[in-house]
Amino acid sequence: MTMFLLTPVLAAVVCILIVWLFKNAGRSIERRKGEPTGRAEARPWMHEDFKDSTDLCQVEEDADESQESEENVEHIAFSHTRYPEKEMVKRSQEFYELLNKRRSIRFISNEQIPMEVIDNVIRAAGTAPSGAHTEPWTFVVVKDPDTKHKIREIIEGEEEINYLKRMGHRWVTDLKKLRTNWIKEYLDTAPVLILIFKQVHGFAANGQRKVHYYSEISVSIACGILLAALQNAGLVTVTTTPLNCGPRLRVLLGRPTNEKLLMLLPVGYPSQEATVPDLKRKRLDQIMVTV
Ligand SMILES: Cc1cc2nc3c(=O)[nH]c(=O)nc-3n(C[C@H](O)[C@H](O)[C@H](O)COP(=O)(O)O)c2cc1C
Repeated sequence: MTMFLLTPVLAAVVCILIVWLFKNAGRSIERRKGEPTGRAEARPWMHEDFKDSTDLCQVEEDADESQESEENVEHIAFSHTRYPEKEMVKRSQEFYELLNKRRSIRFISNEQIPMEVIDNVIRAAGTAPSGAHTEPWTFVVVKDPDTKHKIREIIEGEEEINYLKRMGHRWVTDLKKLRTNWIKEYLDTAPVLILIFKQVHGFAANGQRKVHYYSEISVSIACGILLAALQNAGLVTVTTTPLNCGPRLRVLLGRPTNEKLLMLLPVGYPSQEATVPDLKRKRLDQIMVTV
């Protein structure tokens, strides 16, 4: 009799034990698959999308990073320019109208541009906010025709493989409306290429590693300002993120291993036959929620 009563109780206990064992096994597998350690979770600024082979040694060396102390920065009075409300509305409207004319231009003329403008737009990009004011960016300006052509060869070689093999069907379909392919003539014709590198870490005065907090977000903000500054100056570009080309372009341009390519902007005037896809932007009520 006791035996009959015990069997369902025993079965229930065994079931609970099996469920508990499975749950724990699942959790530890997930931990192994994802961001590997608690160290990564505690330091979200170390996350990177654009990893390349040089990241492998990066992670291990993180242990001896050191931070330059800047505790003694003087605080000074802030000088602010305040506009009357009418002027504010006018300025904001005009700025929006200027930026609304920006388009990605994939046909760029070989006409030279004033290099002083390039200096100024990069100065403007360098005003971007950055995590703990680390300014984790390097803007490489390429004017030399041979280097531009080498860049083109690297990018076209990789892009051909991207389009034919690496990209999924969905990606290729999504790009159809833009009529892009792996031929990038603008890499030769544009008078200037700006390659924007993010510094995954910097160096303190004593040569030790300096942590760069949220470097990718910081550099992306700088790129946004750069795009706006180019538009303001009357130049055109197309935002490009050459897939799988970062490490080779870094080596070609002689940049150190702590720098990762984030973006490449060919800059110039539009060629006479330039066309753009007739894309529409979302309306304010589709992108803004007021609470
Ligand atoms: C992160 C990012 C990556 C992009 N990469 C490419 C690229 O590799 N090649 C390209 O031709 N356009 C690229 N574009 C441009 C987009 O296709 C373009 O911004 C979009 O179609 C909207 O068009 P518009 O810039 O004329 O408004 C990229 C844009 C962004 C923001």
